[in-house]
Amino acid sequence: QQPNHQAYYQLLSNAAEYYQQQLINHSQAQLAKDYLKSRGVTHAISQQYGLGFAPAGWSNLINALTSQANSLTKLEEAGLVIQQPEKQSYYDRFRNRLMFPIRDQRGRVIAFGGRVFTDEKPKYLNSPETLVFQKSKELYGLYEAKQQNRQLTSLVVVEGYMDVIALAQHGITQAVATLGTSVTTDHVRKLFKQTNEIIFCFDGDEAGKKAAWRALENSFSSIEDGYSAKFLFLPQGEDPDSVIRSEGPKQFQQRLDNQSLTLTEYFFQQLESQVNLHSLEGRAKLSKLASPYLNNLKPSTFKQLIENRLAELTGISPSSPTPSALSAQHSTP
Ligand code: CTP
Ligand code: MN
Ligand code: MN
Ligand code: MN
Ligand code: MN
Repeated sequence: QQPNHQAYYQLLSNAAEYYQQQLINHSQAQLAKDYLKSRGVTHAISQQYGLGFAPAGWSNLINALTSQANSLTKLEEAGLVIQQPEKQSYYDRFRNRLMFPIRDQRGRVIAFGGRVFTDEKPKYLNSPETLVFQKSKELYGLYEAKQQNRQLTSLVVVEGYMDVIALAQHGITQAVATLGTSVTTDHVRKLFKQTNEIIFCFDGDEAGKKAAWRALENSFSSIEDGYSAKFLFLPQGEDPDSVIRSEGPKQFQQRLDNQSLTLTEYFFQQLESQVNLHSLEGRAKLSKLASPYLNNLKPSTFKQLIENRLAELTGISPSSPTPSALSAQHSTP
């Protein structure tokens, strides 16, 4: 931990405070408040997640923070402002957006996401990678989930900020989001430090399905005995936010409890759909498709059970005793 990072944390915390103040005070904040209301977000949840408002204009944040004797270079390095190419001038990165502070698991603000209020593009804008923000390692909402739960019995991994917030709004406070990237092995390691059950619940669309398979690939070899990853697939066109708002928390919890596939159920379902198990060739292909995943697994009961299942499907005995085991057996008089 480099000591000079402290300056960035301070700056980012001041920026978060500034955006929150604007949501309360700014003359144009009604737009943001109405927007939150339209998405069912109450004041309490808005505060819990530190939501804010970046007003329209090119230098609101610059004016607010440089008056506190922060240099433009520092603001730029923190991802808050952008330098005009070939010029000395700078402008605010986030303008006329609803602001989501991204905190690390100790609660320090490390970056922001900002959403437009209309259907402008891009819908979401995120901080760039900085000295204190590496996208592929951070999970939005993890700090807040830890604040709201003494113990994390499971963590639901979703795609978006609004999914995390909508779930929390309905009492499901154990949700986190990746930040517009697919789930990495770093994410999975971080998740399994907090809980022994992960439930991936992505959007019901092609991108969401792809994200689920990537999540499987990147969690497969992290499954130790006692740990599990599950997958909940939502109806086409829905995401966790839309489902919990239309069905309510009970139904959503029921989906989590009853409709999630275990990692191995999902794994075999996907592999089996690619082969014809009635043919010898298909069974051979199944074995070939599975082997790179199995090769990455450390010896465990989990691995053994997958091998057994694979053996059932292909009809090949998995654990024929090794010659030494055989001779050991036969040497007893
Ligand atoms: N995302 C992003 N940049 C984009 C689009 C998405 O970083 N241009 C990230 C954001 O973290 C967002 C998440 O991916 O929260 C999910 O994206 P998407 O499913 O497209 O968001 P929507 O559900 O469409 O957003 P909303 O519900 O706010 O309309
Ligand atoms: Mn979308
Ligand atoms: Mn999506
Ligand atoms: Mn959505
Ligand atoms: Mn979505």
